[in-house]
Amino acid sequence: ARWLVILAGGRGERFWPLSRQMHPKQFLTLTGNRSMIRTTRDRVQGIVDDAHTWVVTGVDYVEKVQQHLPAIPVDHILGEPVGRNTAPSIAWAAMAIYRQDPFGSILVLPSDHVIQNEPEFRRLAKRALDAAEQYGGLYTFGILPTHPETGYGYIERDGRAFGEPDILSVVRFVEKPPRAVAEEMLATGRFFWNSGMFAFRAGDFLSAVEMFLPELWQGVQALTENPRQVDTIFPELPEISVDHGIMEKARNVYVLPADIGWDDVGTFAALARLLPRTPDRNAAHGQAVFVESENVTAISDGPVVSFIGVRDLYVIATHDAVLILSPDRSQDVRKVVQALKEEG
Ligand code: GDD
Ligand code: MG
Repeated sequence: ARWLVILAGGRGERFWPLSRQMHPKQFLTLTGNRSMIRTTRDRVQGIVDDAHTWVVTGVDYVEKVQQHLPAIPVDHILGEPVGRNTAPSIAWAAMAIYRQDPFGSILVLPSDHVIQNEPEFRRLAKRALDAAEQYGGLYTFGILPTHPETGYGYIERDGRAFGEPDILSVVRFVEKPPRAVAEEMLATGRFFWNSGMFAFRAGDFLSAVEMFLPELWQGVQALTENPRQVDTIFPELPEISVDHGIMEKARNVYVLPADIGWDDVGTFAALARLLPRTPDRNAAHGQAVFVESENVTAISDGPVVSFIGVRDLYVIATHDAVLILSPDRSQDVRKVVQALKEEG
């Protein structure tokens, strides 16, 4: 069968004060009227059903996931006692699935991305699952890069794979390169950004885990045999992302070019890009008033925010905290979170 694994362990520190410890990005409604995790699940309606959906999240968020996705089986919500990054999360779900369905294929989706062209995304997701089932291998979705972003993985494309017109072999996968390297890669025109979504057969992914992260393979084997011992087994798993731990090392990686209006909405700047603007380039999510102001983005989950004679500003307001942010500093929002933690 076809399975869906949603990764929902992010803590959303770059979205403070909108996201608090208990309210990270995947549970926010940033666009449209459904939370990001709900939108993620609904997006693949018709490809994978609720009964075949799994979510891997922090143990503190299990209940929240249940509220947002009431139709998925409760024992499919895997709660991690500590964050160990994405390789353990995916490996745990893959092993659980493999035990029920050794020939099953899996679509892995982050819980907090925007995809504007959903029909095209669904078409590609099906193509990737078909190919994974027919040919084996690890499938990625490649986004045409627009700037030398250092927060993404880069995928160097080769020629057609399996004689398929829309599936390319991958020369190498480079996770989060330094700026200079990102610039060089961008200039060659041979690279895609990794969208963070993957498709493979459970068995193919686990073979890669066994080869490149044998400790993790043993760990998730033990975990699925003794699920009650999650609190002792999980924290011992190696802390590594799937990108560094598997995708950079595996030789059987493929990429489907994906022109789907993708955005990982990782910062307020990314969110601001998605909001419709007035002729003065102001944008509001929530209620705002702009008087003789320009290029201001207001995001509010309650208070009315108003501006007079200001420009080039982000203001994020909640009932008990306000963030005033320079548009070029949205990567630094977590510094506020750190400072508040230190104050206790
Ligand atoms: N369950 C669980 N546990 N989920 C996690 C954990 C964890 O410890 N850490 C992260 N996640 C979830 C996040 O909630 C998100 O949905 C997804 O896994 C990816 O994690 P990020 O932390 O957002 O990764 P990233 O954005 O730095 O990098 C990844 O995504 C980029 C595209 O957005 C990589 O795959 C890059 O190569 C890629 O370009
Ligand atoms: Mg991300």
